[in-house]
Amino acid sequence: MDSILVKGNGALNGVIPIAGAKNACLTLMPATLLSDEPLTLTNAPRLSDIRTMTQLLGSLGAEVASLQDGQVLAMSSHAITNHTADYDIVRKMRASILVLGPMLARAGEATVSMPGGCAIGNRPIDLHLKALEAFGAKIELAAGYVKAVQPDGGMPGGDFDFPVVSVGATENALMAAVLANGTSRLFNAAREPEIVDLCNMLVAMGAEIEGIGTSSLIIHGVKRLHGATYRVMPDRIEAGSYACAAAITGGEVRLEGARADEMMATIHALQAIGCDVSWDAKSVTVGASGPLKATNLTTAPYPGLATDMQAQLMALLCKAEGASVLKETIFENRFMHVPELTRMGADITTEGRTAVVKGVSRLTGAEVMATDLRASMSLVIAGLAAEGETTVRRLYHLDRGYERLEEKLQLVGADIERVDD
Ligand code: UD1
Repeated sequence: MDSILVKGNGALNGVIPIAGAKNACLTLMPATLLSDEPLTLTNAPRLSDIRTMTQLLGSLGAEVASLQDGQVLAMSSHAITNHTADYDIVRKMRASILVLGPMLARAGEATVSMPGGCAIGNRPIDLHLKALEAFGAKIELAAGYVKAVQPDGGMPGGDFDFPVVSVGATENALMAAVLANGTSRLFNAAREPEIVDLCNMLVAMGAEIEGIGTSSLIIHGVKRLHGATYRVMPDRIEAGSYACAAAITGGEVRLEGARADEMMATIHALQAIGCDVSWDAKSVTVGASGPLKATNLTTAPYPGLATDMQAQLMALLCKAEGASVLKETIFENRFMHVPELTRMGADITTEGRTAVVKGVSRLTGAEVMATDLRASMSLVIAGLAAEGETTVRRLYHLDRGYERLEEKLQLVGADIERVDD
């Protein structure tokens, strides 16, 4: 199995190109099931999660051609020939649940394996199902699968007020509502930039959605959607991760393609830690010329600080002067990187969903592994500032979400390589 070897070797400086957003692409792709006309995505990231979604859509009867070295996905879904998303694919990637809404809307029924728990928490799908029920769908659970069926005469649409903000449930609900017979209203909907990207693409396909970018969405169902060509938004989490990498080494990188307005909470966190951040319409530049300072951070739904940035910012805070308090409010078990960072010399204690990080003057290389994507990235970030060599194992997590990770870090001077051991 491959590992990443990383050695701290001073400041990272230069330019890193930011890829299309994994989480946006994973919700834009299933929208191909909504139309019998071609849907083309440009600026797609080259990631294993995207290949898993390609495989899943293929199993349902869609055609997905990966062009221009994977940066263009030409999709078409003339007919949905199979209405079941199998456990074998769904267990690999939770985002597979995002085929439920569009398949139900277009084919009248959809059966999807329940994704089950994952390393960062229980992660139920009850809100996905309740939203579909509110639109008139009938839901049955049997043998580990959820089956959703439209009522006779089609889905009327309806109102749903999310008791908890959920990105995935909002996306599934949106894709189910766009082809309903009537109007649907979503309250307390997630308003992450990836949701705005989905809404904008659905509108480009002929959907009628009001309130885009707010927590109240009104969706007027239309009879059919047409094809479109759409550019995937830049990955704000990839950009934030490389910002932490540059800052922990005392360097400066320009994140080419990143959009500041979509990552303001991360920018504010970096500024509170003492980083210099500047931006223009096409890039964000992050540097750290002075000492890093402790600060208190709490994750929250957008526009709050993304839970997907918590582990990387924690790695950065390990080298800050003073004690920081980090609160994770979205997932119940998202501190698995703590014991690994501790093995590298970090001083972190946790109690429930709160971590206290006391900055240390030196981190030391170690063999580490993490159980999720962003946690793995936090170990790479710590490794870039550690004395000696860090070996990060279980690379399949990183390959799910970071395109050409070692190449991009080498571009700015990192001593990092992938080895087969
Ligand atoms: C998405 C992102 C993930 C990110 C997360 C939060 C993708 C592919 N993944 O995950 O990277 O960390 O948003 O920003 O876009 N919940 C329920 N019932 C549900 C659904 C969710 O209780 O039916 C809870 C979850 O357990 C969690 C919270 O709601 O505590 C937020 O989860 P959610 O926003 O749904 O995350 P995902 O869409 O799975």
